[in-house]
Amino acid sequence: MKVVTTITALTTEIQAAKQAQKTIGLVPTMGYLHEGHLTLAQKARAENDLVVMSIFVNPTQFGPNEDFESYPRDLPRDTALAATVGVDIVFAPSVEEMYPHDGGIRICAGEQATILCGASRPGHFDGVLQVVAKLFHLAQPTRAYFGQKDAQQVAIIATMVRDYNFPLEMRVVPIVREEDGLAKSSRNVYLSEQDRQEAPAINEALQLARDSFVANRDASSALAKANCHLTARTHGQIDYIELLAYPDLTPVTADTEQVLLAAAVYIGNTRLIDNCIFNMK
Ligand code: PAJ
Repeated sequence: MKVVTTITALTTEIQAAKQAQKTIGLVPTMGYLHEGHLTLAQKARAENDLVVMSIFVNPTQFGPNEDFESYPRDLPRDTALAATVGVDIVFAPSVEEMYPHDGGIRICAGEQATILCGASRPGHFDGVLQVVAKLFHLAQPTRAYFGQKDAQQVAIIATMVRDYNFPLEMRVVPIVREEDGLAKSSRNVYLSEQDRQEAPAINEALQLARDSFVANRDASSALAKANCHLTARTHGQIDYIELLAYPDLTPVTADTEQVLLAAAVYIGNTRLIDNCIFNMK
């Protein structure tokens, strides 16, 4: 496995792979790898000749009062883990390498970014699209791998791929969870012992709301059940729990086929997100 930190070095590798007509799987991450990330890489390994994983804590997707500075980082540990799942190239650039110029062009994520996480994190998805578009241009992937854990991110990137004709296939991997149901996240390291005990209540609340909605088709009573569960089981502050049609992120109607039930909850000071997607037909 090679670790490259410059765009020039990555480009050399990608050009050689393209010349040899290799398929390329790209796994974009912000590092501090866990089983969720590794599952994406394993899928990429199974489906492509060359697997590129990017590890880059992207400053442009963090708000001014968010955790960019304190976001967990451990490149030696990450590269060792990436090697165990057959990643060929880790691309770990510096901020200066990715963003050598101040200001410049930003991508606007549009309608789908005004709700859910976009409502409480203004500009977040613009930053995600900025870095993902750059990574797509640099790695020229045949397939790019994303987790359903960030369902809104998947929907918005899919829209960019469609609207801006990126010649690649997006592959989405189901949420990888701890044994007690908590979705794996690099941010779980922020949780205190008590926070960690309370955090599985988010997934439990989503399951309760899903069962209720499937049985009764009543969104407000389903969401009320989730709210009640979270209030009873955690000291958390609910940012949102919502039901939307997926992947459009529009209100659920009688014609909706797939529903996204998504939540963001502050457990202690840590904002955790989770979701489930299910069929209505
Ligand atoms: P990051 O949070 O590091 O996640 C990288 C990828 O791993 C994302 O596609 C995310 O959905 C996926 N992932 C995280 N936890 C997962 C879990 N428990 N199960 C399955 N997949 C999981 O998402 C980002 O980084 C960034 O926004 C990025 C796309 C890299 C752009 O900077």
